[in-house]
Amino acid sequence: SRPVRVGILGMGTVGQGTVRVLLRNAEEITRRVGRDLRVVHAAVRSPQRLQGLDFPGRVSVDPWAVVRDSEVDVLVEVMGGTGLARELILAAIDSGKHVVTANKALLAEHGNEIFAAAQRRGVMVAFEAAVAGAIPIIKAIREGLAGNRIHWLAGIINGTSNYILTQMFREGWSFAEALAKAQELGYAEADPALDVDGGDAAHKITLMASIAFGIPVDFAHCHVEGIRSLQGEDVHYAAELGYRIKLLGIARRRDDGVELRVHPTLIPQDHLLAHVEGPFNAVLADSDAAGQSLYYGRGAGGDPTASAVVADLVDVARTMTADPSNRVPHLAFQADALSPLPL
Ligand code: HSE
Repeated sequence: SRPVRVGILGMGTVGQGTVRVLLRNAEEITRRVGRDLRVVHAAVRSPQRLQGLDFPGRVSVDPWAVVRDSEVDVLVEVMGGTGLARELILAAIDSGKHVVTANKALLAEHGNEIFAAAQRRGVMVAFEAAVAGAIPIIKAIREGLAGNRIHWLAGIINGTSNYILTQMFREGWSFAEALAKAQELGYAEADPALDVDGGDAAHKITLMASIAFGIPVDFAHCHVEGIRSLQGEDVHYAAELGYRIKLLGIARRRDDGVELRVHPTLIPQDHLLAHVEGPFNAVLADSDAAGQSLYYGRGAGGDPTASAVVADLVDVARTMTADPSNRVPHLAFQADALSPLPL
């Protein structure tokens, strides 16, 4: 059958990684899906970025050219930002395109609007790459734990902060040195304040909570505190007392709602989460049937995030032919009794 035609907005670290992974593993992916996944059009602000990449499709500077391209079946949004990206995604949904996005800030702020539009139009919005990079945490919560009552989630979900804390502890680097290196390695957001001040982790815990507890996405109700004010001394005193400092995102079911928070936390050094280092992420879930389950992997960087984008493309491609009412709901919150707790 005919290929699934993919358009990409943004050819930065993740966009390029996505094209690389699709080309490298094309044969296996085609075998798994039963159809080719072909990138037919990409929007890139500076086309010279594509030098050295064997890019197979059309290239435009204007992202609207990709959204309006009637050949495109699935739009991959990896350009970031919450203004233009929102308009482009809503227009793509409106024209019947499925969407795969890595944009956690956008979904944390405008997810309810975007998912409602997708539901009305019968298209999918997949966002595995928005949370914890290569770890299939959205699928784990939505599908793997679907039979459970989830009590809480606690995660190291910002690779940049975890890399900084690790280098401060292991190598004695300063906060600034470690951040500069994280940027060089392609872990950090375009605006690294989102990483070190906790906003990125807050976006991610908000999205995970929405799926775990069936609640609307409510970023405004997340308490946020980052790692910017931590010194090397803090990290070392904590170690002397037998702890590691980790930036955690926490979502906890309570009688009266769901508590959402992000802050640096002391973790006993023999706890599994204390051993999650560098750009790795881990999410620990506590639920009634499964008990505690831990999900671990690379949380940042081009290829690890591309791994999740491509997984979503495969998922969407497999499901595209299904009746819209039988599609896997990519975000299926119900308006049940729970809601995020006010701060
Ligand atoms: N800046 C993010 C992080 C990238 O460091 O975790 C992955 O979302």
